[in-house]
Amino acid sequence: MKKVVFDTDIGIDDAMALLFLHYSPDVELQAIVSGFGNADIATTTRNALYMKEYFGIDAPVYCGAAEPVGKRLGSGYPDFVHGHNGLGDIEIDEPTMETETLSGAEAIVEIVKNNPHEISIVAVGRLTNLALALDLCPELPGMVKEVVVMGGTFGHNGHSGNVSPVAEANIAGDPQAADKVFTSNWPVAIVGIDVTHETIARDEFFELLKKTAGKAGDFIYRSSRFYLDFHEQVTGGNECPVHDSSAVAYLLDPSLYETKTAAVRVVTDGIAIGQTIAADPNADFESNAWKDQPTCQICIGVDSEKVLALYAKTLALAVQ
Ligand code: BDR
Ligand code: CA
Repeated sequence: MKKVVFDTDIGIDDAMALLFLHYSPDVELQAIVSGFGNADIATTTRNALYMKEYFGIDAPVYCGAAEPVGKRLGSGYPDFVHGHNGLGDIEIDEPTMETETLSGAEAIVEIVKNNPHEISIVAVGRLTNLALALDLCPELPGMVKEVVVMGGTFGHNGHSGNVSPVAEANIAGDPQAADKVFTSNWPVAIVGIDVTHETIARDEFFELLKKTAGKAGDFIYRSSRFYLDFHEQVTGGNECPVHDSSAVAYLLDPSLYETKTAAVRVVTDGIAIGQTIAADPNADFESNAWKDQPTCQICIGVDSEKVLALYAKTLALAVQ
């Protein structure tokens, strides 16, 4: 059983990932920590509370960061991807539940301290909450079981950035925070565009969930309409990449992924802001930026059919 803290900027694919965690028999969800990203912090936090209430999710919700710790690429929020309400503009009731009193970063520290070496952190938004938690508790890395990040892009499988030619949204939204997380000494797995753009959900997949996953499938089907429309403008197909749920798939079954081990640094300024750069461990560079840095596991290959099958199988448990 995995004890999971889910750090998320709840938009459409984050909500899908949350339901993947919620219905997985192998996960004990300890907390949902919100962050700005797909929408502003008020909206993503409201969405976390909405999901908790609508699906009876037993984990407390903590309000996380409203802005990055450093310079970010761009400004505003991608309402053209996730809708104004972050959930594809489907109708949702205002939640009656409230967030806990601790901040997102404080909650991460508290939960990890109470469960030393047991917590898996799945981070699928900007890495701001984790960077703030590291500031609050520099010993945190030694107490965390693993960190699984959806973010970044390393040029494998012909894929590149989605918010610039070299940057992925979660990293470009707070590059300084990401650099801190990737250079801290804890087991980090990076599930980036190299594999999430290899895992494509077509409309038939959403039709299947609607038939087999009850209320969860119906919610996913409705909220995904907006997301599919956006991606259709980009690729021409009625389909979308599976971003945040890929981090959950890695958590549940890392054997679905091929990885490489390397030190990763993030570009924090200039035209390549948000770029994630992995160093060849055998190379001897003039630059010291990667030298003696901790390494990360970077996903470079995926059995995408099995990832989609695991998602559908897990969501089917929603009706049992
Ligand atoms: C990431 O950015 C957000 O839009 C998604 O929720 C995902 O976490 C993909 O680049
Ligand atoms: Ca996200």
